[in-house]
Amino acid sequence: MLPRQVVKWILVFLVISPSLFPVSVSEVDSSYWSAKKRHMKKKVHDMFYHAYENYLTHAFPHDELKPLSKSFTDSLSELGNLKLEHLPQHYNGSALTLIESLSSLVIMGNNTEFERAVLWLSENLSFDVDARINLFECNIRVLGGLVSAHILATDSANRLVQGSYKNQLLTLAEDLGRRFLPAFDTPTGLPYAWINLKYGVMENETNETSTSGCGSLILEMGALSRLTGDPIYESAALRALRRLWSMRSSLNLLGTTLDVTTGEWIEYSSGIGAGVDSFYEYLFKAHILFGKEDFWRMFHSAYLAVQKYFRHGPWYHEADMRNGKATYWQLTSLQAFWPGLQVLVGDIAAANSSHREFVHVWKKFGVLPERYLLDHLMLHPTEKYYPLRPELAESTFYLYQATKDPWYLEVGESIVNSLNSYTKVDGGFASIRDVTTMQLEDHQHSFFLAETCKYLYLLFDDSFLVDRNYVFTTEGHPLPVLSSWHDRLPEAYIPSNWTFLPSEKQARRASAMTLQVCPAMSLDCGHGCQQVKSACHIPDARSDHRCFGDEECGVDATTCRRRTCSMAGYCGLWLFI
Ligand SMILES: *[C@@H]1O[C@H](CO)[C@@H](O)[C@H](O)[C@H]1NC(C)=O
Ligand SMILES: *[C@@H]1O[C@H](CO)[C@@H](O)[C@H](O)[C@H]1NC(C)=O
Ligand SMILES: *[C@@H]1O[C@H](CO)[C@@H](O)[C@H](O)[C@H]1NC(C)=O
Ligand SMILES: *[C@@H]1O[C@H](CO)[C@@H](O)[C@H](O)[C@H]1NC(C)=O
Ligand SMILES: *[C@@H]1O[C@H](CO)[C@@H](O)[C@H](O)[C@H]1NC(C)=O
Ligand SMILES: *[C@@H]1O[C@H](CO)[C@@H](O)[C@H](O)[C@H]1NC(C)=O
Ligand SMILES: *[C@@H]1O[C@H](CO)[C@@H](O)[C@H](O)[C@H]1NC(C)=O
Repeated sequence: MLPRQVVKWILVFLVISPSLFPVSVSEVDSSYWSAKKRHMKKKVHDMFYHAYENYLTHAFPHDELKPLSKSFTDSLSELGNLKLEHLPQHYNGSALTLIESLSSLVIMGNNTEFERAVLWLSENLSFDVDARINLFECNIRVLGGLVSAHILATDSANRLVQGSYKNQLLTLAEDLGRRFLPAFDTPTGLPYAWINLKYGVMENETNETSTSGCGSLILEMGALSRLTGDPIYESAALRALRRLWSMRSSLNLLGTTLDVTTGEWIEYSSGIGAGVDSFYEYLFKAHILFGKEDFWRMFHSAYLAVQKYFRHGPWYHEADMRNGKATYWQLTSLQAFWPGLQVLVGDIAAANSSHREFVHVWKKFGVLPERYLLDHLMLHPTEKYYPLRPELAESTFYLYQATKDPWYLEVGESIVNSLNSYTKVDGGFASIRDVTTMQLEDHQHSFFLAETCKYLYLLFDDSFLVDRNYVFTTEGHPLPVLSSWHDRLPEAYIPSNWTFLPSEKQARRASAMTLQVCPAMSLDCGHGCQQVKSACHIPDARSDHRCFGDEECGVDATTCRRRTCSMAGYCGLWLFI
């Protein structure tokens, strides 16, 4: 059973005690920083609308905007249709960017436009199309976007005009969820990577998929099951996740690609970036959202293995799952999400040090290149692009929430300035094809609106999160942490009123200081010397271990447990024994 204190932290995961991370309150509240935040919030607001309105003008209802030619691409299905003539005639796309913008519109306070978009989709969106789509992408972007928007449209703040919304987005989400199910009909329960929305799995479909493709479905499909009361979606995603986990090596490592019919690995090397990233993220976030102990146990083992086999100082390389030997020494843009996840876990110091390295690379190039070869100190020859990715902004947002260190606001400011100076064009925001020349590419990805703009906005204005407790999916769509979605946690640990958080001035919302993970690693320092290092030791607020309340006590490095304040006023662990 989890200690009560720990469970409490899970459930109020957006609140941390300021005393855990002492920063100067006067600095945070100074008029300089509040003026800066207001100014930056306005800049991000303008970026979002520049992207959004250009999409509406030149691309809607197609999927994504081509900002240079002011035209569109139906990327969701074009991805899967290498021979474009196979798309249905007069195909108008699936309004992908509109779906992806829904939760950002709510976060930026534009309920009128949110309502307009919801009603348009309610009447006009259909998934009954002969289009081959990527299950993973369609799940995180479309299913996640719809489920999240449905929750926002029906939440207690009642954002939609009474009576105008009759759960149409949920009906659409359920229709899409049903179309996903044939993908899971494999001998292993691991889903095919591609599926035709109208006809199911196609003949001669590839058997190859990725770890993230099988392991990042549980948040959206679980939420769909909770909302509809039909367990079939969650069961399918859970079965796939469990099967995937059973394929780990004795080192608790997984590979990157696998065969869904045989359950055999194809690529044994993996890291925390492309093809794997959101698998880790979803194990942990599923635990926050659904409370199952299983998710926590899987995440804990997986996290320890990552820290042990992939980490090299602040960097993460790849390793072979079978023997833990390093394979590729590469920094990839997608890895920049990791510090954000570490903040949720409570590993702030490790998050801070990795994040700083990514910021350093961002400053060196002006943006983050897709792939940098650490062993050759050069860019990957064919992956020099920056497609407006959100991961660094995401981690910056989490770190600022956790620490309130205004340095992160400055990082956010320099991200915003780079985006405006290198990627803003008359017709929207364009991806960068080559970070050495800043040559542009004619594509504005929907995640720029769903994530990049959203996390930057939340960095400067987090009022959306006040008194609310959300988990963001890997595509940046918020899902609420509801006690009614929590399984198998003793009733006593679940507050009946999840929206209420103490609203005293000093109750500061921050990152998810949830369960503490303390990977105590034994490092070989040569000549038979062994050094034990904890990746997430959190010291007590005072070095003499005196305290007035539990909040002033940190996390014990050896037992990985939160310390509590004793009757005598000392931080200790004995209350748990
Ligand atoms: C796409 O939109 C055009 C113009 O609104 C319409 O005529 C056409 O029927 C639509 N195509 C499909 C497949 O719905
Ligand atoms: C909401 O979005 C619409 C469409 O972009 C825009 O015209 C309007 O000004 C926005 N309203 C607010 C309050 O931002
Ligand atoms: C559905 O699409 C049609 C064609 O674009 C439009 O006229 C209609 O207003 C849309 N429905 C809603 C509710 O917006
Ligand atoms: C599937 O593969 C077989 C053998 O390569 C081939 O004969 C058949 O035409 C393929 N079917 C389709 C629909 O591509
Ligand atoms: C997928 O796996 C099945 C069963 O192992 C095999 O028969 C089929 O040829 C494979 N398909 C492809 C495209 O490799
Ligand atoms: C992050 O690292 C920097 C540089 O090492 C340090 O000055 C700063 O205090 C750290 N912040 C946190 C919150 O750990
Ligand atoms: C939660 O509790 C607080 C304080 O008792 C109350 O103000 C708030 O209305 C409650 N919210 C819900 C949704 O019950």
